Amino acid sequence: MSARHPDDISFDEFDEINFSRSGVTAFQKITDTVLSRRGFLGKGIAYGTTAFVMGTTSLSGLTGCAFNPEGFRQVDANNFDTITVPNDHSWHVVSMWGEPLWSESAAFDPVTRGTAASQELAVGDNNDGMALFEKDGKSVLVSNNEYVNLKIIYGNRESKKPENADDVRKGMAGHGMTVAEIAVKDGNWGIVKDSPFNRRITANTPMEISGPARGHDMMKTAADPAGVLALGTWNNCGNGRTPWGTYLSCEENFNGYFSSSDDAYKPSEELTRYGVGNKDWGYAWATVDERFDISKNPNEPNRFGYVVEFDPLDPTSTLKKRTALGRFKHENAELVVADNGQVVVYLGDDERGEFLYKFVSSGKYSKVGDNSNLLDDGILYVAKFNDDMHGEWLALTPETTGMKSQAEISILTRQAGSKVGATTMDRPEWVAVHPNKAEVYVALTNNKNRGKKPNAGGDETPVGGPNPRAANHYGQIVRWRPDKGDHTATGFEWDLFVIAGNPTVHNDAYGGSKNVNSGNMFNSPDGLFFDENGYLWIQTDGNYSDKGDFAGMGNNQMLLGDPETGEIKRFLVGPKECEITGYAWSADRKTLFVGIQHPGEKGNSHYPGGGQSVPRSTIIGINRKDGGAIS
Ligand code: FEO
Ligand code: CA
Ligand code: CA
Ligand code: CA
Repeated sequence: MSARHPDDISFDEFDEINFSRSGVTAFQKITDTVLSRRGFLGKGIAYGTTAFVMGTTSLSGLTGCAFNPEGFRQVDANNFDTITVPNDHSWHVVSMWGEPLWSESAAFDPVTRGTAASQELAVGDNNDGMALFEKDGKSVLVSNNEYVNLKIIYGNRESKKPENADDVRKGMAGHGMTVAEIAVKDGNWGIVKDSPFNRRITANTPMEISGPARGHDMMKTAADPAGVLALGTWNNCGNGRTPWGTYLSCEENFNGYFSSSDDAYKPSEELTRYGVGNKDWGYAWATVDERFDISKNPNEPNRFGYVVEFDPLDPTSTLKKRTALGRFKHENAELVVADNGQVVVYLGDDERGEFLYKFVSSGKYSKVGDNSNLLDDGILYVAKFNDDMHGEWLALTPETTGMKSQAEISILTRQAGSKVGATTMDRPEWVAVHPNKAEVYVALTNNKNRGKKPNAGGDETPVGGPNPRAANHYGQIVRWRPDKGDHTATGFEWDLFVIAGNPTVHNDAYGGSKNVNSGNMFNSPDGLFFDENGYLWIQTDGNYSDKGDFAGMGNNQMLLGDPETGEIKRFLVGPKECEITGYAWSADRKTLFVGIQHPGEKGNSHYPGGGQSVPRSTIIGINRKDGGAIS
């Protein structure tokens, strides 16, 4: 998600309200240079031709071209209040917010939208990252529940906000994660009620603090004087998974839940860098639990903003906050095992002008050994992109940062990145590693402040490099190749895979790169995933007004990109006012699971129920109508 304001408008919308169109920049030159650069983008010139032909074809509505071995017909942009997939595919709802996980759970009540008690036993709200695990022929789907839509979950209240303690606790229970066994029944996937795998993790589930920050003074609170046990996880955005069978869940906008009962309280710089202040975003959690009151518990926010690891196939497993991976507004955690066995995790900090990171483990992955503490010890690096298309990973250590300890770096990671001069980025969202070669992609979703305003730490945000447009409201996807194909290397070569834009409105850099055309255009790339064939799935969380600079883009969508040719094709369009986020495959590759988050966030959707029903975030399954594998 983008951060939510007290009035529950998205940051992306906030962007648009405040967006002041910049003048023409030297950007086209940069774009041309980037896209025609030889080597990495050896086929860059071909992008334009291929993509243009595709655009023409899809505009005529006649047919699409084969894109992957199975091929599909490009879906046109639209504003429908439903899912659109290619004609030879179908979709169905697998799970949705408020759906019971156990027989004793109350059915979803569209009038009250549930209670704290019912929500604790039901699927959480706003599903985001997810992963499917298999055990003994059973399929267990883990999904993040990023936040709750105040206007929807409290739609029964006049204020559209929590009005009593039970309301607040309902909101807390709507956050976290949902673990649910799913199975096919009558042709469609759905939740298996009462499965021993079913589990809810919420804002109150105890979890261990692990890694360098464990027990540090900044982690100690009145309730946990040892600084080793945190309660809960929230704003779980993107995810990752490990080859040793665990799930990684990433805490993103953790700040919006804290407030101060004392208006005169002055939060420390350590807190303000992370956006923690005296007002929360409307969740009112401090009204039921003092740990959310920063004037009384100033260290509590230091215990959030981490990557959480656990084994979803063991319902009694303990969750662990892996502080070695740093504290920031984590998007996802893309893990790859380097050739030498060290584990590398790529990590984005989704805030305007914040940084891109990677963690390299000290230990090595072993197929037969114990990998349970690999993510506790290693070196955290932050990315510096140079204009000459090279870049470097800068180690964050006491020596390089001047900070006191690795523990302090693990807690105040943004500050550490600033100290070494990391490159301020246009909101790094998901990172995806190519399955067949050493190449990594990151979605930079947008940044209205680029070239206009420094980040919260005062670091400048100059236009250039991987962030080539001022007041960037469309976003881009950057990729890099580690030196010698080694993910542990500290050097890399980068370029841009796509610069989103609207070529029907702009003929400068805001028209996008050559692989964007009137037929496939989109804004604000967010989710990124590689399939096993090496195609790149792109999900968007952007402006869905379909007007002005966004005319012709329709609702948020999912596209498929070919890293070799630059070709990009739209595969799915979501319902009104949603974003598309989260991705998983069934073991037989016949079902592609996709997340539909916050449909109707402004009050204009009845997806998926239709009629006058309450809009609900869902996970859907997509199948080919002929029953074959999709990829
Ligand atoms: Fe929750 Fe940056 O997306
Ligand atoms: Ca979201
Ligand atoms: Ca986003
Ligand atoms: Ca996101």
